[in-house]
Amino acid sequence: MTASIDQLDPDLIITAPGDPDPKGKPAIRTLAMPADTNPSGDVFGGWLLSQMDLAAGISAAWHARGRVATVAVQGMEFHRPVRVGDVLCVYADVVKVGRTSITLLIEAYVLRSRDRKHRVKVTEGVFTCVAIDENGKPRPVPSEEG
Ligand SMILES: CC(C)(COP(=O)(O)OP(=O)(O)OC[C@H]1O[C@@H](n2cnc3c(N)ncnc32)[C@H](O)[C@@H]1OP(=O)(O)O)[C@@H](O)C(=O)NCCC(=O)NCCS
Repeated sequence: MTASIDQLDPDLIITAPGDPDPKGKPAIRTLAMPADTNPSGDVFGGWLLSQMDLAAGISAAWHARGRVATVAVQGMEFHRPVRVGDVLCVYADVVKVGRTSITLLIEAYVLRSRDRKHRVKVTEGVFTCVAIDENGKPRPVPSEEG
């Protein structure tokens, strides 16, 4: 039987056989909707990229304890398509903290509508966010203790 979204128990979701487990923590979960598609009915890569940017921004802002801006995105590869009705799950892993920047590995998985229990990896990318002040200028990332 196919589980619907309201029956989804996050603790029961496992990675599909052959796919790597996510390295980071869950940052975003959302549903791919018809409005996110092009005229052919395929989900835009830009929609996926924006969700990943949101995940990076949320996680980096948490780490930087304040406002951040994305300065670079590297190594984006779209391995598999996202389809309408897929639940997109985005994971964020802080891989480097510089003076003012935070670099995160952002991994995107989907739960297909026919199988809500297995996450399938669709893409990943490395996002660099910069902690910025009220004037939009770089500011030091606070230390873990401070
Ligand atoms: C983010 C921004 C404030 C940084 O200002 P800047 O004067 O370029 O900053 P700096 O040159 O001092 O670099 C700041 C940090 O970013 C890092 N950085 C800059 N460019 C980078 C790049 N292309 N890739 C990776 N890291 C980069 C620097 O290494 C530095 O990190 P560190 O302090 O940890 O060593 C500025 O570039 C900006 O406002 N960009 C637009 C951001 C934006 O609008 N994003 C959304 C796009 S729609």
